[in-house]
Amino acid sequence: MRIALLGGTGALGGGLALRWGRDSQHDLVIGSRDPERAREAAGTYEAILDGQGVERSIPGFENGMAAERGDVVVLAVSSDHLSEVLGDVGPRLPSDAIVVTPAVDMESGENRMTYAPPTQGSVAALVREEIPARNPVVGAFHTLPADRLQSLEESLDMHTLVFGDDEAAIERVRSLAGEINGLETLLAGPLENAPAVESLTPLLLTLGQQNNTPGLGLKLTD
Ligand SMILES: NC(=O)c1ccc[n+]([C@@H]2O[C@H](COP(=O)([O-])OP(=O)(O)OC[C@H]3O[C@@H](n4cnc5c(N)ncnc54)[C@H](OP(=O)(O)O)[C@@H]3O)[C@@H](O)[C@H]2O)c1
Repeated sequence: MRIALLGGTGALGGGLALRWGRDSQHDLVIGSRDPERAREAAGTYEAILDGQGVERSIPGFENGMAAERGDVVVLAVSSDHLSEVLGDVGPRLPSDAIVVTPAVDMESGENRMTYAPPTQGSVAALVREEIPARNPVVGAFHTLPADRLQSLEESLDMHTLVFGDDEAAIERVRSLAGEINGLETLLAGPLENAPAVESLTPLLLTLGQQNNTPGLGLKLTD
């Protein structure tokens, strides 16, 4: 399978690229607004993985070209600009590509981060509105701290919540997420549940700020 990481030059996309690069056999493609920046980031990831004894060839493209190559397309783009990116990328998605959104809209207030969803009610709903109906949308990775993903020496030992309306697409994304060492998935219901899941991210960031414990993630036990 080929995973296209749009905005893969950023913190979350880079973390996912490194984890999947090390822990899975899937092909990875890095997307950016600027193809040169995508190639540079991909080269950096290749070098880090090489240092881990993993030989990888990771190409970089402009976001639309990366999306055209994805079986699974992860929107690791800053949420403020997602709409703009989707306007260009949406029509270029392969007809059966699964689109994964980890994106959260937040505002920083005094001593806290707050959830500030778009008018559609959640970022996932915005994505659903802006891409072709044939492409399933799955939410995942919202509560994973990018810096911990990027520290390959660190064991994750975390859960990520996965939601959506297409069962086959959800299972595919769960399976991909589960290939990352130390990451487990929990089903979190339909796309309608997006506000509940997305709003956990600003809460975790606030907890981190208030308690001087940055990099908090989610680990649920029974
Ligand atoms: N960071 C985390 O710990 C974390 C955790 C969970 C979820 N998330 C979510 O994951 C997404 C990515 O987070 P991040 O921290 O990786 O974000 P980021 O580093 O701030 O940005 C990711 C990428 O977005 C692209 N971008 C920036 N400005 C843009 C613009 N004006 N138009 C189009 N693209 C633009 C950039 O790629 P190019 O400049 O190369 O185009 C950048 O590398 C966000 O939606 C965030 O809510 C983040």
